[in-house]
Amino acid sequence: CGIVGYIGNQNSQGILVEGLKKLEYRGYDSAGIAVFTKEGLQVVKAQGRMANLESRLEATPLTGSAGIGHTRWATHGKPSDENSHPHTDESKKFSVVHNGIVENYLDLKEELIAGGCHFTSETDTEVISHLIAREYNGDIVKAVQKAITFMRGAFALGVLTEYEPDKLVAVRQASPLIIGLGEGENFIGSDIPALLEYTRNVYILNDGEMAVLTRDAVELMTIEGNFISREMITVDWDAVTAEKGGYEHFMLKEIHEQPKAYRDTMRGRTNAEGNKVILPELNLTEEQIKNIRNIQIVACGTAYNAGLVGRNLIESLVRIPVENDIASEYRYRSPIVTPETLVIVVSQSGETADTLAALREGQANGAHVLAITNVVGSSIAREANSVLVTLAGPEIAVASTKAYTSQLIAFTLLGLYLAEVRDTQSEPEVAKILAAMQSLPEQVEVILAQKDAIKAYAEQIAEHHHLFFIGRGVDYAVAQEGSLKLKEISYIHSEAYAAGELKHGTLALIEEGVPVIALATQESVLEKTVSNIKEVKARGAHVLAVTHEEHKNDLLRSVDEVFVIPQTLPLLTSALSVVTLQLLAYYASLALGHDVDKPRNLAKSVTVE
Ligand code: G6P
Repeated sequence: CGIVGYIGNQNSQGILVEGLKKLEYRGYDSAGIAVFTKEGLQVVKAQGRMANLESRLEATPLTGSAGIGHTRWATHGKPSDENSHPHTDESKKFSVVHNGIVENYLDLKEELIAGGCHFTSETDTEVISHLIAREYNGDIVKAVQKAITFMRGAFALGVLTEYEPDKLVAVRQASPLIIGLGEGENFIGSDIPALLEYTRNVYILNDGEMAVLTRDAVELMTIEGNFISREMITVDWDAVTAEKGGYEHFMLKEIHEQPKAYRDTMRGRTNAEGNKVILPELNLTEEQIKNIRNIQIVACGTAYNAGLVGRNLIESLVRIPVENDIASEYRYRSPIVTPETLVIVVSQSGETADTLAALREGQANGAHVLAITNVVGSSIAREANSVLVTLAGPEIAVASTKAYTSQLIAFTLLGLYLAEVRDTQSEPEVAKILAAMQSLPEQVEVILAQKDAIKAYAEQIAEHHHLFFIGRGVDYAVAQEGSLKLKEISYIHSEAYAAGELKHGTLALIEEGVPVIALATQESVLEKTVSNIKEVKARGAHVLAVTHEEHKNDLLRSVDEVFVIPQTLPLLTSALSVVTLQLLAYYASLALGHDVDKPRNLAKSVTVE
């Protein structure tokens, strides 16, 4: 979910609505705002996208210079008008927006109902508004602090009360929240894009902290009420970067931003001779690096898929055993972590609740946790022992593209760096890989230039209900990302299979005309992959291969179509082949008329477990 809040001298409705639009990627099941108007605290909310809220506001505008807003990704209670935020108490004098989950809400709800409260929604959030109202004794800050003592779970809150119209109270407990500082006005927001248009000066709250905003001041304190001071951060993202910049969709724009993202992520991380990687951000001594016995890469979704490539890279460059874990599984399988384990968490947003929990699990077991993330100042970045930032810039489309590929670049740099310290790669070998990396951005451009052909093929597969991606080694890892991308935005069912594994069961699903996308970029296993391609061809599959120019003619003897990627080292092909698959997913979704940037049921940033 996403939260915004405003208190100042301007009319708040427009500011809240614009802020929420920037946060829609955090959820778009419903949206709503509450504003102090002349008639008191008034709420307008609507199920569905922001447009629904906007048309309601056109009919009943809210005029007033303080307000809070929310865009929802349903957790407790279906998407509906009633379950939309802001939520109020019985008296309608208190209004709350909430991101996160109150784990003990059912107990609290029972208790409140027994005390005479009536509930109008199925949400956990409504409990908070009733609790605050119950605890109110003339001081909203104290009431919020008291209410929190009853609540368990994760929450970021924005709270208004009609009794104290000059105050906006914000709380952060395990869900992200930042405070924006203006002149005669102040803001709250779940993240930076929501506030960029109005201010670049922010305070980032830590867990267990709260803020009291008035027009002219912001007071920070712990939730126990101890005042604290915090350094103001000035954000240097420009607002245009967060906009679509001429492309039809954010996803297409972000696909095209990959050459820049690669360069930015590599920039300043090699020596002048180009034969060494420099990563001063790693808080690991040479000795600690030499002592690493195993690595666990933990993440969710696309970031997990980047970790699969990461494993391949690290194992081949450094020869340290690497495991991949899905973050929501990691904690509960009692992973074997020692102080000689390096845990790498990967997260574009740096806010994914499961990944954050995995980070804490690793730390609790004495491991050094290295975060690869795209958001400096995110929860994961702040809690990790070391942070390797990807410089992809803000990613808005729900389906991750440039963040994923920047993660691949980060993993390559990390692998090379570990290899230097542990002396598993020679200097010329490192120099060769770094030189090849330098060519990747322009090689991505070559793939982007093939988009018409990819689009034509995407239109063919858009007519199918199932398809398969196959590959071996790193191609298998990329196949998994290609398959996820396609499912997420085109809703076509697909599966990624290790090419050699297909015959052990899944081959039964191949019949006349089923599309199979075969990644065949790895010279060392090319013949084996070709044999697997023949197995599916023999059963009627329509096969597209993604490979290098030099193998094109060879492959054309066994497959129906070929897309070529520029020549690079076997270790680096993932950073190119995946771009073809991203475009394929994009155009398939487009052909089917889906909402590319906001696929159904999904959210960009999932801050619940
Ligand atoms: C959500 C998004 C996915 C993303 C995953 C992990 O489910 O829809 O696209 O890969 O979260 O996000 P993170 O920000 O941790 O990389």
